[in-house]
Amino acid sequence: MDKQKLEQYGLEAELLPRHIAMIMDGNGRWAKKRLMPRTFGHKKGVERVREIVKTSSLFGIQAITLYAFSTENWKRPAEEVNVLMSLLAQYLQSEIDDLDRNGVRFRMIGDRSGLSTQLQQLIENAERQTENNTGLILTVAINYGGQAEIEQAAVAMAKDAAEGKCVPSAEEFKKRLYTNGLPPVDYLIRTSGELRISNFLLYQAAYAELYFTEVYWPDFDESQYAQALRAYTARNRRYGGV
Ligand code: FPP
Repeated sequence: MDKQKLEQYGLEAELLPRHIAMIMDGNGRWAKKRLMPRTFGHKKGVERVREIVKTSSLFGIQAITLYAFSTENWKRPAEEVNVLMSLLAQYLQSEIDDLDRNGVRFRMIGDRSGLSTQLQQLIENAERQTENNTGLILTVAINYGGQAEIEQAAVAMAKDAAEGKCVPSAEEFKKRLYTNGLPPVDYLIRTSGELRISNFLLYQAAYAELYFTEVYWPDFDESQYAQALRAYTARNRRYGGV
C-alpha cells in the first residue's frame, strides 16, 4: 500500500472496498469517436487495465475482478473476437512476470473449455506462477456468464450429492462457484454510461454498491478510479438493516 498515493487522492484505506468488480465498457465507442476501428479501443483498454491493476495494488485493494469477455461476446464479428482473444493472450504473456514481481495473484473465471488451447495454457501458467502471492487478487472473467456460473454450481453440487460426495448446503454451493475463496463484491463499477449489470457476478454482487460513469473505459484512468473510490467511501452501507 502506498500511503502517499492514498493521501494524494484524499482516500482513507480503512474505508475502501475489499473487492471491486469492473465492467470495462465503451472501448468501441471511444474508438469510433476518433474514427478508428473498434479494436483500437480494445488495445487502449488494455493500457487502462495495466494502470488500474497497478493502482489497485498501490491503494491496497484486496481483489478486483474485470469483465473481459462475456459468453454473449461470441456474437461479435469474428475479427473482433480474434483481436480480443489475442489481446488477452498477449497480456498474459507480457505482464505475468511483472504481476508476479508485484505480488499479484492471477485467476480466471468463466468457462475455459470454450477457449483456445493456447489461451487455456497461458491462463493455467499464470495461475500456477502466481498462486502463492499474497497481494492483490486479479481475477479476469473470460467466456463468463453469471447465470451459467450459478447453474453449473447447482448441477455440480447435485451430481456430487447424488454420488454421496457431499451433503447439499449453501457452503457446498458457494464452493462450486468460480469465485470460491474471494470476498463478496463490495463495489461494482461500469464505465460508458450503460446502466446494466449484464450477467456479471449476479450472486457475488448481491449487496454491492453500484457506480456508473459516463467515461469510456479507455479514459478511465487513475484519477477517475480515485473519484469512484471517493464516492464509495461516502456511502453508508446497511445490508438491509437500518
Ligand atoms: C466493452 O467495450 C469491452 C469489452 C467487451 C472488452 C474488454 C476487454 C479489454 C479492455 C481488453 C482485454 C482485457 C484484459 C484483462 C487484458 P465495447 O466493445 O462493448 O464498447 P462499446 O459498448 O462502445 O461498443
